[in-house]
Amino acid sequence: MSISIEPSASVINPARVAPPSPATAPSGAEQAESPLLGNYKRAPGQFVSGDGVYLIDATGRRFLDFVSGIAVNALGYADPGLRSALHAAADGLVHVSNLYATAPGEQLAATLVQQSFADKVFFCNSGAEANEGAFKFARRWARTKGDAKHEIVALRGSFHGRLFGTLAATDRPGYRVPFRPLAPGITIVERDIDDLAVALNPETAAAVILEPIQGEGGVRVLDAGFVRELRALTKEREVALIFDEIQCGLGRTGKLFAYEHYDVEPDMLTLAKPIAGGLPMGAVLMTREIASTIKPGDHGTTFGGGPFVAAVANHVLSRVSDPAFLRSVAENGAWCGAQLREIAHRTGRIRGVRGMGYMWGFDVMGTASHVVNEAFAAGLLTCSAGDYTVRLLPPLVATRDELALGLGILEEIL
Ligand SMILES: Cc1ncc(COP(=O)(O)O)c(C=O)c1O
Repeated sequence: MSISIEPSASVINPARVAPPSPATAPSGAEQAESPLLGNYKRAPGQFVSGDGVYLIDATGRRFLDFVSGIAVNALGYADPGLRSALHAAADGLVHVSNLYATAPGEQLAATLVQQSFADKVFFCNSGAEANEGAFKFARRWARTKGDAKHEIVALRGSFHGRLFGTLAATDRPGYRVPFRPLAPGITIVERDIDDLAVALNPETAAAVILEPIQGEGGVRVLDAGFVRELRALTKEREVALIFDEIQCGLGRTGKLFAYEHYDVEPDMLTLAKPIAGGLPMGAVLMTREIASTIKPGDHGTTFGGGPFVAAVANHVLSRVSDPAFLRSVAENGAWCGAQLREIAHRTGRIRGVRGMGYMWGFDVMGTASHVVNEAFAAGLLTCSAGDYTVRLLPPLVATRDELALGLGILEEIL
Protein backbone atom coordinates (compact mmCIF):
# COMPACT_ATOMS: atom_id res chain seq x y z
CA MET A 1 0.00 0.00 0.00
CA SER A 2 1.73 3.10 -0.83
CA ILE A 3 0.37 6.20 0.22
CA SER A 4 -1.88 7.11 2.97
CA ILE A 5 -0.44 10.43 3.49
CA GLU A 6 -2.01 11.40 0.28
CA PRO A 7 -5.27 9.61 0.06
CA SER A 8 -5.81 11.53 -3.13
CA ALA A 9 -2.61 10.06 -4.49
CA SER A 10 -3.29 6.38 -3.69
CA VAL A 11 -1.71 3.47 -2.29
CA ILE A 12 0.46 2.24 -4.98
CA ASN A 13 1.67 2.95 -8.43
CA PRO A 14 0.47 -0.16 -10.24
CA ALA A 15 3.13 0.26 -12.90
CA ARG A 16 5.91 -0.29 -10.36
CA VAL A 17 4.57 -3.44 -8.76
CA ALA A 18 5.52 -6.88 -9.95
CA PRO A 19 2.78 -8.04 -12.30
CA PRO A 20 -0.05 -9.27 -10.09
CA SER A 21 -2.21 -12.17 -11.13
CA PRO A 22 -5.32 -11.40 -13.16
CA ALA A 23 -7.47 -12.04 -10.09
CA THR A 24 -5.76 -9.25 -8.14
CA ALA A 25 -5.23 -6.76 -10.91
CA PRO A 26 -8.19 -5.21 -12.59
CA SER A 27 -7.24 -3.92 -16.01
CA GLY A 28 -7.04 -0.20 -16.66
CA ALA A 29 -10.43 -0.40 -18.31
CA GLU A 30 -11.95 -2.12 -15.27
CA GLN A 31 -10.46 0.48 -12.94
CA ALA A 32 -11.78 3.28 -15.11
CA GLU A 33 -15.25 1.75 -14.88
CA SER A 34 -15.32 1.74 -11.09
CA PRO A 35 -18.34 3.62 -9.78
CA LEU A 36 -16.19 4.89 -6.88
CA LEU A 37 -15.13 8.52 -6.98
CA GLY A 38 -11.63 8.92 -8.33
CA ASN A 39 -10.14 10.67 -5.29
CA TYR A 40 -7.88 7.70 -4.52
CA LYS A 41 -5.41 5.86 -6.71
CA ARG A 42 -5.94 2.44 -5.25
CA ALA A 43 -3.53 -0.47 -5.34
CA PRO A 44 -4.35 -3.28 -7.73
CA GLY A 45 -6.33 -6.18 -6.39
CA GLN A 46 -8.61 -6.50 -3.39
CA PHE A 47 -8.03 -7.61 0.16
CA VAL A 48 -10.56 -10.15 1.28
CA SER A 49 -9.47 -11.20 4.76
CA GLY A 50 -6.90 -10.74 7.47
CA ASP A 51 -5.06 -12.85 9.99
CA GLY A 52 -3.04 -11.28 12.81
CA VAL A 53 -0.60 -8.89 11.14
CA TYR A 54 -1.34 -10.17 7.63
CA LEU A 55 -3.80 -9.01 4.99
CA ILE A 56 -4.79 -11.59 2.39
CA ASP A 57 -5.80 -10.76 -1.16
CA ALA A 58 -8.27 -12.45 -3.50
CA THR A 59 -5.57 -14.81 -4.81
CA GLY A 60 -4.64 -15.92 -1.30
CA ARG A 61 -1.41 -13.91 -1.22
CA ARG A 62 -0.47 -12.76 2.28
CA PHE A 63 0.92 -9.28 2.87
CA LEU A 64 2.69 -8.39 6.11
CA ASP A 65 0.91 -5.20 7.10
CA PHE A 66 3.02 -2.30 8.41
CA VAL A 67 0.25 0.20 7.59
CA SER A 68 -2.61 -1.04 9.81
CA GLY A 69 -5.23 0.82 7.81
CA ILE A 70 -3.14 3.95 8.51
CA ALA A 71 -2.82 3.46 12.27
CA VAL A 72 -6.36 2.13 12.70
CA ASN A 73 -6.02 -1.64 13.08
CA ALA A 74 -4.05 -1.62 16.34
CA LEU A 75 -5.22 -5.14 17.19
CA GLY A 76 -4.46 -6.52 13.73
CA TYR A 77 -6.95 -8.75 11.92
CA ALA A 78 -9.37 -11.42 13.12
CA ASP A 79 -8.46 -10.68 16.71
CA PRO A 80 -10.66 -13.01 18.82
CA GLY A 81 -11.34 -10.41 21.54
CA LEU A 82 -12.32 -7.75 19.03
CA ARG A 83 -14.52 -10.25 17.18
CA SER A 84 -16.36 -11.15 20.38
CA ALA A 85 -16.80 -7.47 21.22
CA LEU A 86 -18.25 -6.85 17.74
CA HIS A 87 -20.65 -9.77 18.06
CA ALA A 88 -21.73 -8.75 21.56
CA ALA A 89 -22.24 -5.16 20.39
CA ALA A 90 -24.37 -6.38 17.49
CA ASP A 91 -26.67 -8.11 19.97
CA GLY A 92 -27.30 -4.73 21.64
CA LEU A 93 -28.61 -1.40 20.41
CA VAL A 94 -26.93 0.05 17.33
CA HIS A 95 -28.22 3.64 17.47
CA VAL A 96 -30.61 5.71 19.53
CA SER A 97 -29.41 9.31 18.81
CA ASN A 98 -27.75 11.70 21.19
CA LEU A 99 -31.17 12.70 22.51
CA TYR A 100 -30.76 9.72 24.85
CA ALA A 101 -27.95 8.26 26.94
CA THR A 102 -26.69 4.70 26.56
CA ALA A 103 -24.35 2.74 28.81
CA PRO A 104 -21.50 2.03 26.33
CA GLY A 105 -20.96 5.74 25.56
CA GLU A 106 -21.10 6.72 29.24
CA GLN A 107 -18.65 3.97 30.11
CA LEU A 108 -16.24 4.87 27.32
CA ALA A 109 -16.22 8.53 28.32
CA ALA A 110 -15.72 7.59 31.97
CA THR A 111 -12.72 5.39 31.14
CA LEU A 112 -11.12 8.06 28.92
CA VAL A 113 -11.58 10.63 31.70
CA GLN A 114 -10.19 8.28 34.30
CA GLN A 115 -7.12 7.47 32.18
CA SER A 116 -6.27 11.02 31.06
CA PHE A 117 -6.04 14.71 31.99
CA ALA A 118 -9.62 15.25 30.79
CA ASP A 119 -12.91 15.83 32.61
CA LYS A 120 -15.35 15.61 29.68
CA VAL A 121 -15.53 13.85 26.33
CA PHE A 122 -17.37 14.54 23.07
CA PHE A 123 -17.77 11.71 20.54
CA CYS A 124 -17.99 12.07 16.76
CA ASN A 125 -17.17 9.96 13.71
CA SER A 126 -13.71 10.77 12.35
CA GLY A 127 -10.46 12.56 13.01
CA ALA A 128 -11.23 15.67 10.99
CA GLU A 129 -14.56 15.93 12.72
CA ALA A 130 -12.88 15.67 16.13
CA ASN A 131 -10.52 18.52 15.25
CA GLU A 132 -13.34 20.66 13.84
CA GLY A 133 -15.19 20.11 17.12
CA ALA A 134 -12.10 21.03 19.13
CA PHE A 135 -11.78 24.29 17.13
CA LYS A 136 -15.36 25.19 17.95
CA PHE A 137 -14.95 24.36 21.64
CA ALA A 138 -11.73 26.40 21.75
CA ARG A 139 -13.47 29.43 20.27
CA ARG A 140 -16.44 29.09 22.58
CA TRP A 141 -14.14 28.99 25.60
CA ALA A 142 -11.79 31.72 24.33
CA ARG A 143 -14.64 34.17 23.80
CA THR A 144 -15.31 33.99 27.54
CA LYS A 145 -11.79 35.44 27.97
CA GLY A 146 -12.07 38.18 25.35
CA ASP A 147 -14.47 39.10 22.56
CA ALA A 148 -11.79 39.07 19.86
CA LYS A 149 -10.17 35.75 20.84
CA HIS A 150 -10.82 33.42 17.92
CA GLU A 151 -7.60 32.64 15.99
CA ILE A 152 -6.40 29.07 15.69
CA VAL A 153 -2.75 28.33 15.00
CA ALA A 154 -1.35 25.08 13.59
CA LEU A 155 2.30 24.18 13.06
CA ARG A 156 4.48 23.84 9.98
CA GLY A 157 4.26 20.23 8.72
CA SER A 158 0.87 19.60 10.30
CA PHE A 159 -1.97 17.43 9.06
CA HIS A 160 -5.28 17.82 10.87
CA GLY A 161 -7.84 16.72 8.26
CA ARG A 162 -9.55 17.73 5.03
CA LEU A 163 -12.72 19.53 6.03
CA PHE A 164 -12.71 23.31 5.60
CA GLY A 165 -11.51 24.20 9.10
CA THR A 166 -9.02 21.36 9.40
CA LEU A 167 -7.76 21.91 5.84
CA ALA A 168 -6.90 25.48 6.83
CA ALA A 169 -4.86 23.94 9.68
CA THR A 170 -3.15 21.44 7.37
CA ASP A 171 0.20 22.50 5.93
CA ARG A 172 -0.12 20.91 2.50
CA PRO A 173 -0.47 23.43 -0.34
CA GLY A 174 -1.49 20.67 -2.73
CA TYR A 175 -4.49 19.83 -0.60
CA ARG A 176 -5.41 23.44 0.16
CA VAL A 177 -4.99 25.47 -3.00
CA PRO A 178 -7.76 23.93 -5.15
CA PHE A 179 -10.32 24.54 -2.41
CA ARG A 180 -9.67 28.14 -1.43
CA PRO A 181 -11.10 30.12 0.22
CA LEU A 182 -10.52 27.98 3.32
CA ALA A 183 -11.97 28.76 6.73
CA PRO A 184 -10.66 32.11 7.95
CA GLY A 185 -8.99 32.70 11.32
CA ILE A 186 -6.68 29.68 11.05
CA THR A 187 -2.97 30.06 10.29
CA ILE A 188 0.16 27.93 10.06
CA VAL A 189 3.24 29.02 12.04
CA GLU A 190 6.78 27.61 12.15
CA ARG A 191 7.64 25.05 14.83
CA ASP A 192 9.60 27.74 16.60
CA ILE A 193 8.81 29.19 19.99
CA ASP A 194 9.92 32.72 19.02
CA ASP A 195 7.67 32.72 15.94
CA LEU A 196 4.80 31.43 18.07
CA ALA A 197 5.43 34.09 20.70
CA VAL A 198 4.93 36.68 17.94
CA ALA A 199 1.93 34.90 16.37
CA LEU A 200 0.00 34.30 19.57
CA ASN A 201 -1.55 37.67 20.28
CA PRO A 202 -3.27 37.26 23.66
CA GLU A 203 -6.12 39.51 22.46
CA THR A 204 -6.97 37.40 19.42
CA ALA A 205 -5.52 33.87 19.80
CA ALA A 206 -7.89 31.10 20.87
CA ALA A 207 -5.94 27.88 20.35
CA VAL A 208 -2.82 26.14 19.11
CA ILE A 209 -3.17 22.63 17.69
CA LEU A 210 -0.21 20.25 17.36
CA GLU A 211 0.55 16.62 16.67
CA PRO A 212 3.13 15.46 19.25
CA ILE A 213 4.43 13.25 16.43
CA GLN A 214 3.58 14.72 13.07
CA GLY A 215 2.47 11.70 11.07
CA GLU A 216 1.68 12.75 7.53
CA GLY A 217 4.29 15.52 7.78
CA GLY A 218 7.17 13.01 7.88
CA VAL A 219 6.98 11.30 11.30
CA ARG A 220 8.48 14.25 13.15
CA VAL A 221 8.64 13.90 16.92
CA LEU A 222 8.18 17.35 18.42
CA ASP A 223 10.99 18.40 20.74
CA ALA A 224 10.00 18.06 24.41
CA GLY A 225 11.57 21.40 25.37
CA PHE A 226 9.66 23.15 22.59
CA VAL A 227 6.36 21.58 23.64
CA ARG A 228 6.92 22.54 27.29
CA GLU A 229 7.74 26.14 26.32
CA LEU A 230 4.64 26.25 24.15
CA ARG A 231 2.56 24.92 27.04
CA ALA A 232 3.89 27.72 29.28
CA LEU A 233 3.28 30.36 26.58
CA THR A 234 -0.28 29.22 25.88
CA LYS A 235 -1.11 29.15 29.60
CA GLU A 236 0.26 32.63 30.09
CA ARG A 237 -1.75 34.01 27.12
CA GLU A 238 -4.94 32.08 27.84
CA VAL A 239 -4.72 30.11 24.59
CA ALA A 240 -6.05 26.53 24.50
CA LEU A 241 -3.46 23.89 23.64
CA ILE A 242 -4.94 21.05 21.58
CA PHE A 243 -3.02 17.80 21.07
CA ASP A 244 -4.07 15.96 17.92
CA GLU A 245 -3.36 12.33 18.86
CA ILE A 246 -5.51 10.91 16.09
CA GLN A 247 -2.56 9.00 14.63
CA CYS A 248 -0.09 8.78 17.53
CA GLY A 249 -2.51 8.27 20.45
CA LEU A 250 -4.02 5.20 22.11
CA GLY A 251 -0.87 3.18 22.64
CA ARG A 252 1.04 3.73 19.41
CA THR A 253 3.96 5.48 21.15
CA GLY A 254 4.14 2.95 23.99
CA LYS A 255 2.06 5.16 26.28
CA LEU A 256 -1.72 5.40 26.15
CA PHE A 257 -1.45 9.09 25.20
CA ALA A 258 1.57 10.68 23.51
CA TYR A 259 1.34 13.77 25.76
CA GLU A 260 2.55 11.54 28.62
CA HIS A 261 6.02 11.61 27.02
CA TYR A 262 6.16 15.40 27.32
CA ASP A 263 5.44 16.04 30.97
CA VAL A 264 2.68 18.50 30.04
CA GLU A 265 -1.09 18.28 29.84
CA PRO A 266 -3.11 19.72 26.96
CA ASP A 267 -6.45 21.52 27.36
CA MET A 268 -8.00 19.35 24.68
CA LEU A 269 -6.97 16.15 22.91
CA THR A 270 -8.43 14.58 19.79
CA LEU A 271 -8.61 10.87 19.03
CA ALA A 272 -9.97 8.73 16.19
CA LYS A 273 -8.30 6.06 14.00
CA PRO A 274 -7.84 3.00 16.30
CA ILE A 275 -10.40 3.87 18.95
CA ALA A 276 -13.22 1.61 17.76
CA GLY A 277 -11.29 -1.22 16.13
CA GLY A 278 -11.92 -0.02 12.57
CA LEU A 279 -15.43 1.36 13.07
CA PRO A 280 -15.64 5.12 12.46
CA MET A 281 -15.33 7.11 15.67
CA GLY A 282 -13.62 10.28 16.87
CA ALA A 283 -13.40 11.89 20.27
CA VAL A 284 -12.50 15.23 21.85
CA LEU A 285 -11.22 15.08 25.42
CA MET A 286 -11.25 18.38 27.32
CA THR A 287 -10.83 20.07 30.66
CA ARG A 288 -13.78 21.02 32.83
CA GLU A 289 -13.01 24.70 32.21
CA ILE A 290 -13.53 24.36 28.47
CA ALA A 291 -16.44 21.94 28.82
CA SER A 292 -18.26 24.35 31.13
CA THR A 293 -18.57 26.89 28.29
CA ILE A 294 -20.39 24.46 25.95
CA LYS A 295 -24.16 24.65 26.08
CA PRO A 296 -26.82 22.38 24.53
CA GLY A 297 -27.04 23.14 20.83
CA ASP A 298 -23.48 24.48 20.51
CA HIS A 299 -22.36 21.38 18.65
CA GLY A 300 -23.69 17.97 17.68
CA THR A 301 -23.59 15.00 15.36
CA THR A 302 -26.17 12.31 14.69
CA PHE A 303 -24.05 9.19 15.02
CA GLY A 304 -21.33 10.23 17.49
CA GLY A 305 -20.76 7.81 20.37
CA GLY A 306 -23.63 5.48 19.49
CA PRO A 307 -23.98 2.30 21.58
CA PHE A 308 -22.64 -0.14 18.95
CA VAL A 309 -19.45 1.73 18.14
CA ALA A 310 -18.87 2.74 21.76
CA ALA A 311 -19.25 -0.86 22.98
CA VAL A 312 -16.51 -1.94 20.58
CA ALA A 313 -14.35 1.03 21.58
CA ASN A 314 -14.64 -0.01 25.23
CA HIS A 315 -13.02 -3.30 24.29
CA VAL A 316 -10.24 -1.63 22.26
CA LEU A 317 -9.51 0.84 25.06
CA SER A 318 -9.29 -1.93 27.65
CA ARG A 319 -6.73 -3.73 25.46
CA VAL A 320 -4.52 -0.80 24.46
CA SER A 321 -4.43 0.67 27.96
CA ASP A 322 -3.23 -2.57 29.52
CA PRO A 323 0.21 -1.80 31.07
CA ALA A 324 1.78 -5.03 29.75
CA PHE A 325 0.51 -4.23 26.24
CA LEU A 326 1.95 -0.71 26.42
CA ARG A 327 5.25 -2.03 27.77
CA SER A 328 5.57 -4.42 24.84
CA VAL A 329 4.88 -1.59 22.35
CA ALA A 330 7.49 0.59 24.07
CA GLU A 331 10.14 -2.16 24.20
CA ASN A 332 9.57 -3.60 20.74
CA GLY A 333 9.25 -0.07 19.36
CA ALA A 334 12.62 0.98 20.80
CA TRP A 335 14.13 -2.21 19.37
CA CYS A 336 12.57 -1.44 15.98
CA GLY A 337 14.11 2.06 16.00
CA ALA A 338 17.53 0.62 16.86
CA GLN A 339 17.19 -1.92 14.03
CA LEU A 340 16.27 0.82 11.56
CA ARG A 341 19.34 2.81 12.59
CA GLU A 342 21.48 -0.29 12.07
CA ILE A 343 19.92 -0.86 8.66
CA ALA A 344 20.69 2.78 7.85
CA HIS A 345 24.29 2.19 8.87
CA ARG A 346 24.65 -1.11 7.01
CA THR A 347 23.03 -0.03 3.76
CA GLY A 348 23.98 3.64 3.61
CA ARG A 349 20.62 4.07 1.90
CA ILE A 350 18.71 5.83 4.71
CA ARG A 351 19.29 9.48 5.53
CA GLY A 352 17.34 9.77 8.77
CA VAL A 353 15.27 7.66 11.16
CA ARG A 354 12.55 9.21 13.33
CA GLY A 355 9.78 7.89 15.50
CA MET A 356 8.69 6.20 18.66
CA GLY A 357 6.84 3.03 19.61
CA TYR A 358 5.18 1.52 16.54
CA MET A 359 5.37 4.74 14.50
CA TRP A 360 8.56 5.14 12.48
CA GLY A 361 9.65 7.11 9.46
CA PHE A 362 12.89 6.97 7.53
CA ASP A 363 14.12 9.19 4.74
CA VAL A 364 15.35 7.35 1.68
CA MET A 365 17.72 8.39 -1.09
CA GLY A 366 15.18 8.10 -3.90
CA THR A 367 11.46 8.55 -3.59
CA ALA A 368 9.48 6.94 -0.79
CA SER A 369 6.94 5.65 -3.29
CA HIS A 370 9.68 3.63 -4.99
CA VAL A 371 10.43 1.80 -1.69
CA VAL A 372 6.74 1.45 -0.85
CA ASN A 373 6.05 -0.11 -4.24
CA GLU A 374 9.04 -2.46 -4.04
CA ALA A 375 7.91 -3.52 -0.56
CA PHE A 376 4.40 -4.18 -1.85
CA ALA A 377 5.81 -6.36 -4.58
CA ALA A 378 7.77 -8.25 -1.92
CA GLY A 379 4.65 -8.74 0.21
CA LEU A 380 5.13 -5.95 2.77
CA LEU A 381 2.69 -3.05 3.15
CA THR A 382 4.25 0.30 4.03
CA CYS A 383 3.19 3.85 3.31
CA SER A 384 4.85 7.18 2.69
CA ALA A 385 4.81 10.43 4.65
CA GLY A 386 5.90 13.03 2.14
CA ASP A 387 7.98 12.44 -0.97
CA TYR A 388 11.06 10.97 0.71
CA THR A 389 9.88 9.41 3.98
CA VAL A 390 8.73 5.80 4.27
CA ARG A 391 6.37 5.36 7.22
CA LEU A 392 5.86 2.20 9.26
CA LEU A 393 2.71 1.79 11.36
CA PRO A 394 2.53 -1.91 12.26
CA PRO A 395 -0.41 -3.25 14.24
CA LEU A 396 0.40 -2.84 17.95
CA VAL A 397 0.09 -6.61 18.38
CA ALA A 398 3.01 -7.30 16.00
CA THR A 399 5.64 -9.42 17.72
CA ARG A 400 9.35 -8.73 17.56
CA ASP A 401 9.72 -11.61 15.09
CA GLU A 402 7.06 -10.10 12.84
CA LEU A 403 8.74 -6.70 13.05
CA ALA A 404 12.07 -8.35 12.21
CA LEU A 405 10.53 -10.04 9.19
CA GLY A 406 9.29 -6.73 7.79
CA LEU A 407 12.55 -4.95 8.52
CA GLY A 408 14.43 -7.77 6.76
CA ILE A 409 12.31 -7.25 3.63
CA LEU A 410 12.99 -3.52 3.79
CA GLU A 411 16.73 -4.01 4.13
CA GLU A 412 16.80 -6.24 1.08
CA ILE A 413 14.91 -3.64 -0.93
CA LEU A 414 17.18 -0.83 0.19
C1 LIG B 1 -2.93 13.56 12.94
C2 LIG B 1 -4.19 13.44 12.14
N1 LIG B 1 -5.20 14.29 12.37
C3 LIG B 1 -6.35 14.20 11.68
C4 LIG B 1 -6.54 13.24 10.72
C5 LIG B 1 -7.84 13.18 9.96
O1 LIG B 1 -8.53 12.04 10.35
P1 LIG B 1 -9.71 11.47 9.43
O2 LIG B 1 -9.08 10.94 8.19
O3 LIG B 1 -10.35 10.39 10.27
O4 LIG B 1 -10.64 12.60 9.17
C6 LIG B 1 -5.51 12.35 10.44
C7 LIG B 1 -5.66 11.34 9.37
O5 LIG B 1 -4.72 10.82 8.83
C8 LIG B 1 -4.31 12.44 11.17
O6 LIG B 1 -3.28 11.61 10.95
